[in-house]
Amino acid sequence: MDSKTIMKKLERIEDLPTLPTILFEVNRLLEDINTSAKKLGDTIGKDQSMVAKILKLVNSAFYGFRSRVSDISNALVLLGFNTVRNSVISVSIIKAFSGKNDLEGFDITEFWKHSIAVAVTSKRLAEKFRIEAPDNCFVAGLLHDIGKLVLSQYFQDLFTKVWITAQKENLTFYEAEKKEISVKHPMIGSFLVKKWQFPAHLVDAVKCHHAIRKGVSNYELLLIVYVADIIVNHCTIEPENPIDISTVHPDAVEMLGSHMENTNEWYEKLKAEIESACDFFLKEEEG
Ligand SMILES: [Fe+2]
Ligand SMILES: [Fe+2]
Repeated sequence: MDSKTIMKKLERIEDLPTLPTILFEVNRLLEDINTSAKKLGDTIGKDQSMVAKILKLVNSAFYGFRSRVSDISNALVLLGFNTVRNSVISVSIIKAFSGKNDLEGFDITEFWKHSIAVAVTSKRLAEKFRIEAPDNCFVAGLLHDIGKLVLSQYFQDLFTKVWITAQKENLTFYEAEKKEISVKHPMIGSFLVKKWQFPAHLVDAVKCHHAIRKGVSNYELLLIVYVADIIVNHCTIEPENPIDISTVHPDAVEMLGSHMENTNEWYEKLKAEIESACDFFLKEEEG
């Protein structure tokens, strides 16, 4: 299938996952600087399952507040608008794709575990180096591989072809894609993120996470997601060896400086947090 055919098919798919309308309302309200916590709280309050999920997040070990937060306006004051918006986005994205998982060779739980690991790593890198809004980095990390999900659900033949080549020739998914298909998961993912009307920095981070390109709308955010993905992949497969810096884009190496050399130890300490984020996002709500 050539790239035109793939993109055309993608445009025609009518049941691509959609995000809840509440998310668009929240985004619209946040564009207005006069929006109050009350107004925003009332809007999110229209979706009670979302409220429950956000309160659970606020009260989870992930944020570690000492006293219990029991209403959404409080959560907004404590966490800030941007963090709450990003939790709404994160919860919505994972929910949008839940329940469909019937392709051999693709484990959706493993997929999200990887994405959540990259999200947490991106967030922590942003905090450590004070480069970017940490919550934006979290969402970008969570989304970066979303194109693989689209491939696995709507282009199953292509996905299987890539998967088999990757297994047979011991390649990464992206390397196998380069051999087998004309449009790869970063492009496909960015199509969906754009369709969801997410801001350009997220579209670009998804589109370029394997092929760094200057001139995107937020180069530093892209570098963070790119390097977080490398750290997670490396530390999952061979935690005992340091990352070979010569394989990493020089701008990312420069950004992390000497930190690049002890990423393994640093990542080790992040694991508990990644684990609790996975628990939070992937476990079904028990009523
Ligand atoms: Fe990727
Ligand atoms: Fe990835």
